[in-house]
Amino acid sequence: MNRHIVYLFLGLVLGALRSSNGGISSRYSRSNDISADMPLNSDVFAVPPGYNAPQQVHITQGDHEGRGVIVSWVTPNEPGSSKVTYWAENTQLKKHAVGKFVTYKYYNYSSPYIHHCTIKNLKYNTKYFYELGTGNATRQFWFTTPPEVGPDVPYTFGLIGDLGQTFDSNRTLTHYESNPAKGQAVLFVGDLSYADAYPLHDNNRWDSWGRFVERSVAYQPWIWSAGNHEIDFLPEYGEGEPFKPYTHRYYVPYEASGSTSPLWYSIKRASAYIIVMSSYSAYGMYTPQYKWLMNELPKVNRTETPWLIVVMHCPLYSSYVHHYMEGETMRVMYEQYFVQYKVDVVFSGHVHAYERTDRVSNIAYNIENGLCNPKYDGSAPVYITVGDGGNQEGLLYEMVDPQPKYSAFREPSYGHATFEIKNRTTAYYAWHRNQDGYSVEADSFWFHNLYWTSTSDSSAASF
Ligand SMILES: *[C@@H]1O[C@H](CO)[C@@H](O)[C@H](O)[C@H]1NC(C)=O
Ligand SMILES: *[C@@H]1O[C@H](CO)[C@@H](O)[C@H](O)[C@H]1NC(C)=O
Ligand SMILES: *[C@@H]1O[C@H](CO)[C@@H](O)[C@H](O)[C@H]1NC(C)=O
Ligand SMILES: *[C@@H]1O[C@H](CO)[C@@H](O)[C@H](O)[C@H]1NC(C)=O
Ligand SMILES: *[C@@H]1O[C@H](CO)[C@@H](O)[C@H](O)[C@H]1NC(C)=O
Ligand SMILES: [Fe+2]
Repeated sequence: MNRHIVYLFLGLVLGALRSSNGGISSRYSRSNDISADMPLNSDVFAVPPGYNAPQQVHITQGDHEGRGVIVSWVTPNEPGSSKVTYWAENTQLKKHAVGKFVTYKYYNYSSPYIHHCTIKNLKYNTKYFYELGTGNATRQFWFTTPPEVGPDVPYTFGLIGDLGQTFDSNRTLTHYESNPAKGQAVLFVGDLSYADAYPLHDNNRWDSWGRFVERSVAYQPWIWSAGNHEIDFLPEYGEGEPFKPYTHRYYVPYEASGSTSPLWYSIKRASAYIIVMSSYSAYGMYTPQYKWLMNELPKVNRTETPWLIVVMHCPLYSSYVHHYMEGETMRVMYEQYFVQYKVDVVFSGHVHAYERTDRVSNIAYNIENGLCNPKYDGSAPVYITVGDGGNQEGLLYEMVDPQPKYSAFREPSYGHATFEIKNRTTAYYAWHRNQDGYSVEADSFWFHNLYWTSTSDSSAASF
């Protein structure tokens, strides 16, 4: 080899290894294919057999503590029954709860019958079977309630975002289901069906998405948050009510946390306190969301729920070029409170890629002091973006260069993550990319609880 070429080669290798400013921009490279939505006749969208059989079955937490479950489903032909029959494993006594159904119109689309039934006062940590539908179209499912709320209760959350309904979406869901970490509930960081990619936001794609994810969400709760693709704003066709399909289809227990809107609310689950916020609802001072959050944060009792988790669609810290600084106004508004109340982690989506930050804050600025740089802050959350579920818009490859100091790891690949709470001090977080085997972790991080641990976690090292 010519000596110059050798030097050039060495230079390239060294250049690539030298971390730009601290964090890792993973050099894993995947092929640049944008995957299409699965066709409507795909297996994942199959309509269950039987006249008027319940479909699109999904569950979410139905109260503030985890003893309630909201069961939702759709009947296509006629209202049928809104009754849920349920019983604990190894018991004979069958109980019933009766819900209600709603319908909505979207331009010239008429929804099927969307049933919502809340089951309350379940026993903690118990497997329940439940049955929907009538006659030969009865369908049976099951779920397990979480353990009683308490500081050292282990619990594993899955994290999925921006899922859509492409072949990649299906791979992400399969990887989540097959992950040996065994997520017990999903924190969904927004952007569900991407039905709005179709002319007139073809709401049949909301229905197909409901059938696609049923295989997971009928058996474990997905905790919903709304993204921009839930807005479905189409005033030129008379659809000026934001979030109409989403709020008719996905009920959440918002009233249990004193919220006035399903777009922001909180739940306790095991040892976690989860606050869901809405990036696309008013959040400035005096708005309902602001007032609710200001009332909510002081209520969190870290002796009862050590882990304080915030979920919002649009990330406050992201170093990808697309959507760069979209979360900036929200950051200016709320970051100070996340630091004050020691939020452990903020999970977001929106950016179709993966990123994890160090513990960082940027709250010293006061309009004239010029202090506007993010810096390491041992009381600040870690910000994690998992907008990599696999929708039809594809991945985002363009990154801010050099990699900002606060960015600890970033990579544009499809995947999902898990957050495994061990006890009040420790949680283990891992991100999985779809190209790897089910147990492979492409990025991982030990969390030390901000309230219960005096020593900082590994994040401190890199600043
Ligand atoms: C269900 O019952 C109806 C009549 O009650 C019948 O027409 C239909 O074929 C049955 N479907 C299945 C899947 O057995
Ligand atoms: C709704 O309108 C669109 C555009 O005019 C048309 O293509 C579609 O078939 C209509 N759908 C229904 C259910 O009428
Ligand atoms: C989706 O994934 C499931 C589970 O891996 C598989 O059985 C099914 O065939 C896939 N469907 C499509 C359309 O890719
Ligand atoms: C916080 O929770 C603990 C454990 O449940 C309880 O003993 C304590 O009274 C609570 N504190 C407040 C201020 O409610
Ligand atoms: C919490 O869990 C971690 C990881 O499993 C363990 O090392 C630690 O000893 C536990 N702490 C307590 C107080 O149980
Ligand atoms: Fe989004």
